[in-house]
Amino acid sequence: MEKAIIVYGSNTGNTETLAGALSDELKSRYEVTTRNVIDITPQDIVNYDLIVLGSSTWNEGELQDDFQEFYDEMDQLDLSGKKVAVFGPGDSSWDEYCRAVDILEEKSRQLKANLVTPGFKWDGDIDEEAINEIKKWASKLH
Ligand SMILES: Cc1cc2nc3c(=O)[nH]c(=O)nc-3n(C[C@H](O)[C@H](O)[C@H](O)COP(=O)(O)O)c2cc1C
Repeated sequence: MEKAIIVYGSNTGNTETLAGALSDELKSRYEVTTRNVIDITPQDIVNYDLIVLGSSTWNEGELQDDFQEFYDEMDQLDLSGKKVAVFGPGDSSWDEYCRAVDILEEKSRQLKANLVTPGFKWDGDIDEEAINEIKKWASKLH
């Protein structure tokens, strides 16, 4: 079975909840590892077939705090041929809506990753609809 890793950064638990739903969906097709970004470094993700990065957006368009250091260290990576996908919750009442998703996709592109599907952005509370939608999105991650 191919291996997938989900890396998330979350202040109030929303990205973490989405990561859990993603993991449930991916488990039928991948051996899934889920890690809080504070517990790992970029070098820990290179041996996975699918890398899923999740960050909420804070402070007018910035990555979730814990993700910043990981992001800075990502420059050491070569993600050529790696399948990568990005997700994150946000709130469209802020100007820089879900900017963290764009930031992580842009970095992944620079590192030559294969972005398998456009990033998943969710506006507002993580309710049942959010869970259903991220599972639909996860079903596209092959
Ligand atoms: C002070 C503050 C700043 C925020 N800034 C943004 C922002 O710039 N863009 C955005 O889309 N959402 C923004 N949000 C909304 C959060 O991203 C959203 O609540 C998210 O679900 C939090 O996820 P987390 O609990 O995983 O950190 C902000 C929220 C707060 C409280």
